[in-house]
Amino acid sequence: MANTQTAPIIRMVDIEKHFGSVIALAGVTVEVFPGECHCLLGDNGAGKSTFIKTMSGVHKPTKGEIYFEGRPLSFDDPRDAISAGIATVYQDLAMIPLMSVARNFFMGNEPTRKVLGLPFYDHDHANSITMTEMKNMGINLRGPDQAVGTLSGGERQTVAIARAVHFGAKVLILDEPTSALGVRQTSNVLATIDKVRAQGIAVVFITHNVRHAMAVGDRFTVLNRGKTLGTASRGEIGAEELQDLMAGGQELAQLEGSLGGTV
Ligand SMILES: Nc1ncnc2c1ncn2[C@@H]1O[C@H](COP(=O)(O)OP(=O)(O)O)[C@@H](O)[C@H]1O
Ligand SMILES: [Mg+2]
Repeated sequence: MANTQTAPIIRMVDIEKHFGSVIALAGVTVEVFPGECHCLLGDNGAGKSTFIKTMSGVHKPTKGEIYFEGRPLSFDDPRDAISAGIATVYQDLAMIPLMSVARNFFMGNEPTRKVLGLPFYDHDHANSITMTEMKNMGINLRGPDQAVGTLSGGERQTVAIARAVHFGAKVLILDEPTSALGVRQTSNVLATIDKVRAQGIAVVFITHNVRHAMAVGDRFTVLNRGKTLGTASRGEIGAEELQDLMAGGQELAQLEGSLGGTV
């Protein structure tokens, strides 16, 4: 459960992002607390990805401030955000299917051990950590050498999430992790999100699926054409209202009118 009594780990205040004449974000304020699953909802083009890319140092905001652990922050590079503990799992996952789960898990962070004074990739260490971390997330690998390409889509998402957590994520951003998955795979990923949140990590879960959001979300922020009406807590808002906010209430009412019924 979100502990909104504590200080937010990240505060994005009045963020604007313009791409030439396109205003992707028109002043969005969002706070994220440790241990909460904060859902960012919105239709295609609403500005969700732009918002989290601003949070993770990929984009500089055109206007607005970012505070991380209470201090003003300006990332020059996504690597600065990663070392601060802001990790993003994108849908494409950046994994190599033919390589083992363990190799993918440690890609870019290869553990080494010295043999005759020379560093060698430490298979045993990498393998045992990978097996343990995956087991903690509820996935029993056949072995650490199992190729990532043989895992299901949901399991692959879980590898990417477990990897980010192992390497010290304090804020874990998931950009549409469930949008390409079937029902069972989706529920596996939602269970993984729940486990991550229980460790006190802040999860920012982007989705355009209200049901997925309602299943795990503690708080909900809806973006609509680069704007938001604010954040609602679980219990304050229902699925229909969220859906309505995503579509833009007015447009839906107009459509209902012209179709002469309920959409
Ligand atoms: N790098 C970019 N250059 C120009 N326009 C962009 C860029 N990234 C996003 N946009 C525009 O900003 C708006 C929001 O996009 P995006 O953040 O990807 O939305 P979402 O993730 O909610 O689908 C869209 O109109 C999109 O075309
Ligand atoms: Mg997007």
